Amino acid sequence: MLVVNNLVKQYGKQNAVDDISFELKGGEVVGLLGPNGAGKSTTIKCIVGLLRKTSGEITIGGFDHLSVEAKRFFSYIPETPYVYDLLTVQEHLQFIAQAYGVKEWKAKGNELLEMFELDDKRDKLGRDLSKGMRQKVSICCALLPDPQLLFFDEPMIGLDPKAIKNTKKIFKELKVAGKTILVSTHMIDSVESIADRIMILKDGRILGNDTIANLKQKFVQDEGTTLEDLFLELTKDE
Ligand SMILES: Nc1ncnc2c1ncn2[C@@H]1O[C@H](COP(=O)(O)OP(=O)(O)OP(=O)(O)O)[C@@H](O)[C@H]1O
Ligand SMILES: [Mg+2]
Repeated sequence: MLVVNNLVKQYGKQNAVDDISFELKGGEVVGLLGPNGAGKSTTIKCIVGLLRKTSGEITIGGFDHLSVEAKRFFSYIPETPYVYDLLTVQEHLQFIAQAYGVKEWKAKGNELLEMFELDDKRDKLGRDLSKGMRQKVSICCALLPDPQLLFFDEPMIGLDPKAIKNTKKIFKELKVAGKTILVSTHMIDSVESIADRIMILKDGRILGNDTIANLKQKFVQDEGTTLEDLFLELTKDE
């Protein structure tokens, strides 16, 4: 579904993403972990075409990632949610539905708004939404077209406990529905139960890319090690 080959992204002289390669097969859920500044957001932004890569190849569903065909496959939930100031919550959904040709979008839209407790906010303008509400609108807009592939960049940040619970529930549902997901997060426990695989990024490089069980076996000896211990062990400064 997603193939990344030798991706490099430089900011000036710094390699924020330093020659990484990985794949996501259809139906895989992969957690992207790494300390602040590791290159998680840069990697995702290059894949979705928001940042121009310095070099490397990226294909989505077999198409170059910048092609219209590739764009039909995925949705992206950015680290900092962007909403349109002068569109209401409902109009955001309408806009996405029209752009992606989503039929019967009202029922699905209502379901999403209810799940994220935005149904009483549907007539509120984007500019009047709180940070968490913007995040929720961004998630609803991403889910409305029912994409095959989803990129979530720190989806839980800024959400209240109920919305975090709902987002985790949605992840499980998306996984059951066979969607492919790449999710960057600092909330390690939020991906532990659903991720088929974990990629750990540091200084723009992949330090580990495997199932949690295999990573534990490879990098730590004692039994009681948690994913958090493993993460800290792998990303510690020498
Ligand atoms: N627009 C930019 N101009 C210059 N350098 C940048 C820019 N954006 C990011 N960087 C640098 O690129 C590196 C990777 O940043 P990135 O935002 O991808 O990290 P991240 O893993 O998403 O971190 P976080 O967990 O804090 O979100 C950092 O060293 C950062 O300072
Ligand atoms: Mg980031």
